[in-house]
Amino acid sequence: MIDLASPLTIKNKFIIFGGGFSGEYFAKSIRKLGCTALTSSRSINDDPNSFIFNSEQNLLPEDSIFDGVTHILSCIPPGKNGKDPVLKSLKNKINSLPIQWVGYLSTTGVYGNTDGDWVSEKDQPKPFQERSQRRLNCEKEWINSNLPIQIFRLPGIYGPGRSTLEAIKNKKIKVIHKNNQVFSRIHVADIANAIIYLIQNKNKLDFHQIINIADDEPCAQIEVIKYAYQLLGLKMPKKILFEEAKTDLSPIAQSFWLENRRVSNKLLCKKLGYKLIYKNYQVGLNNCLTNFK
Ligand SMILES: NC(=O)c1ccc[n+]([C@@H]2O[C@H](COP(=O)([O-])OP(=O)(O)OC[C@H]3O[C@@H](n4cnc5c(N)ncnc54)[C@H](OP(=O)(O)O)[C@@H]3O)[C@@H](O)[C@H]2O)c1
Repeated sequence: MIDLASPLTIKNKFIIFGGGFSGEYFAKSIRKLGCTALTSSRSINDDPNSFIFNSEQNLLPEDSIFDGVTHILSCIPPGKNGKDPVLKSLKNKINSLPIQWVGYLSTTGVYGNTDGDWVSEKDQPKPFQERSQRRLNCEKEWINSNLPIQIFRLPGIYGPGRSTLEAIKNKKIKVIHKNNQVFSRIHVADIANAIIYLIQNKNKLDFHQIINIADDEPCAQIEVIKYAYQLLGLKMPKKILFEEAKTDLSPIAQSFWLENRRVSNKLLCKKLGYKLIYKNYQVGLNNCLTNFK
């Protein structure tokens, strides 16, 4: 039986590997509860709560970074070699610490293609892309690490500063449509909030090692784009069918259109009782608009 964390207090210290979009949002959220949160970065910056970690250049955190740490969250994607960057460089160090809880941000890409059917944590992963196979390998490494690990599978992440609104503003949008194709997504605030909810209520809730965090309404990409144009008061350009557009897309952009699935959040939202802040892209994009520059 895994010994999960006690509910959070100001005595808790989080180390967040990968202070990118989700990691930084999580750090800010957890600090609001009085906890200490340090985030890693591959390059030096002037944030006093940031420390250097770069697995590829073997730049490791100083020992003092780990003093008093109770919780760890890794937001770093798999390395090119398919290994988890944190475990590759720091597994022994982390295993020597009295850690109460470790979280790992994974992707729903591990489920592969379901031709639009719903997928839940009960479904066997069937990675379709090589990067999803690497991700599944990293999940397995964490599960076998002897650490009190909890894995969060995430669909497309968006939020203030990184949403379809910015894509339109920066002219990085292509209005592509593919019949019957849907995508799931999640607002970054719900990633942070759901994880905090699970840690704080761990004594009341059944423990699940793998949990999807997704919103309630998977839908066609073009619906989201249309709504974003409406919010900005702009006219949406004419749509292009995927079959016509695909030759102009990068291999990675093309690959996203080869998988079609609806990610279920029933475990998180029904069984475990988490209430989404942004249940669909409409409320989520309206939130992004209030912070849009
Ligand atoms: N974006 C999505 O839509 C999406 C969807 C599902 C799952 N995910 C996964 O969820 C996690 C968080 O996503 P995100 O979009 O918030 O991430 P992000 O903004 O891209 O941040 C990734 C972080 O990982 C760090 N990093 C990358 N390679 C590293 C290495 N070799 N050594 C040390 N640090 C390294 C980066 O460092 P720097 O700060 O120095 O760049 C950055 O802080 C990632 O694993 C991502 O793959 C993302």
